[in-house]
Amino acid sequence: MNRWVGSIFLCIISTLLLTSWLVAAEGETCSGIVPMQYRNDKISILDFGGVGDGRTLNTKAFKEAIFRIQHLKRKGGTLLYIPAGVYLTGPFDLTSRMTLYLARGAVIKATQDPSQWPLVDPLPSYGRGRERPGARYMSLLHGDGLHDVIITGENGTIDGQGDVWWNMWRQRTLQFTRPHLVELMNSRGILISNVIFKNSPFWNIHPVYCSNVVIRYVTILAPADSPNTDGIDPDSSSNVCIEDSYISVGDDLVAVKSGWDQYGIAYGRPSHGITIRRITGSSPFAGIAVGSETSGGVVDVLAEHISLFNMGVGIHIKTNVGRGGMIRNITVSNVYMENARTGIKIAGDVGDHPDENFNPNALPVVKGIKIKDVWGEKVLQAGLIHGLKNSPFSGICLSNINLRGNPGPRNSIWKCSDVSGAAIQVSPFPCAELTSSQKTGACSTYF
Ligand SMILES: *[C@@H]1O[C@H](CO)[C@@H](O)[C@H](O)[C@H]1NC(C)=O
Ligand SMILES: *[C@@H]1O[C@H](CO)[C@@H](O)[C@H](O)[C@H]1NC(C)=O
Repeated sequence: MNRWVGSIFLCIISTLLLTSWLVAAEGETCSGIVPMQYRNDKISILDFGGVGDGRTLNTKAFKEAIFRIQHLKRKGGTLLYIPAGVYLTGPFDLTSRMTLYLARGAVIKATQDPSQWPLVDPLPSYGRGRERPGARYMSLLHGDGLHDVIITGENGTIDGQGDVWWNMWRQRTLQFTRPHLVELMNSRGILISNVIFKNSPFWNIHPVYCSNVVIRYVTILAPADSPNTDGIDPDSSSNVCIEDSYISVGDDLVAVKSGWDQYGIAYGRPSHGITIRRITGSSPFAGIAVGSETSGGVVDVLAEHISLFNMGVGIHIKTNVGRGGMIRNITVSNVYMENARTGIKIAGDVGDHPDENFNPNALPVVKGIKIKDVWGEKVLQAGLIHGLKNSPFSGICLSNINLRGNPGPRNSIWKCSDVSGAAIQVSPFPCAELTSSQKTGACSTYF
């Protein structure tokens, strides 16, 4: 080969290698965790008597279609097609090896009649319903012990019509804990993508005791004043990947949990291996949250490239006395926030207890929290870290953080207690508890 041709060739190869490396580094995705399955066998809700007129109750049609998928067990699973139209329904169970496909203009709409909502047992890691003792209403889309479940389509909508439930909550007339929009328990191989979730009665998407869960390209919407309408709550689950989504709700956008006080401690199922990236949204509560129910432990969480607007708290790690559990190796990086009450909050005095029998000596352990590359504008209070006297938070490492207040007198300050760690290039200057000298020493141990 001619020398010139050879060096041009080498140059092209190295450029290609470099660009592919850059793309891989910047554009990491959840793909590969749960493959998008092609289903040969396809059925339509219309074949089962489904009527998309917004008035006919379709619970029976959904149940019969899913019964057919469950019992015919077609090789490669079955796709249930929901064409354009508004399908009013009560809650129903999904089954394994199925795709629920919402076409463009398809709406699965929850009935507002509570008598149509069966009750299910409380979760063992909560010991009772999250807001009322005893049983709880079944979620609109529910599943237990499933694998290979896909909810996708052309950005159709799952609408919880939550206002009747929110009003019952406001008027204190709820008999049982409100239903989630989607809850999958003890399941693996879950993919939720290209769907719009709207007006959930309670939390929107709740994977609990699950593994290998991907949630991407979803939009989740609920009014800012709707109570407890969390976006996505991975709970006692592992290998969960959430990305490229817009969430604007009345409570935390994403909150990683693992059970509640003595019930969560006894059940002992942590959340671990949780990735959250490229999420945009707003809420009067938290953007990226861990807790406050963390009794089974929450470890190995990575949240990056997060954009938050009109927030309560940008990043909120919260637990309480009685929770027990370990919160460790949490990394949050590349966050932009605009107009927030508090930028960063890590606190051991947040949330309520299931009953009086929680153990006041069950102290949570919080260590190895890395927060870096955060930029905030109009952040009223920069940071608040409240450790516990008998269980101080350690290895709290902040770097390259700039949280600007409103113009005028400086009100954007830090408040800390019972915490150790390091802060490097943090503005406004954080509390003295976080040294800038120890640097890597204080921080390298936990990551
Ligand atoms: C659906 O919404 C996602 C996320 O907003 C978007 O990326 C995608 O292009 C939309 N797809 C269609 C078919 O409209
Ligand atoms: C910390 O968590 C990340 C995932 O966010 C993981 O890749 C890493 O191995 C964990 N580090 C340790 C020391 O466990």
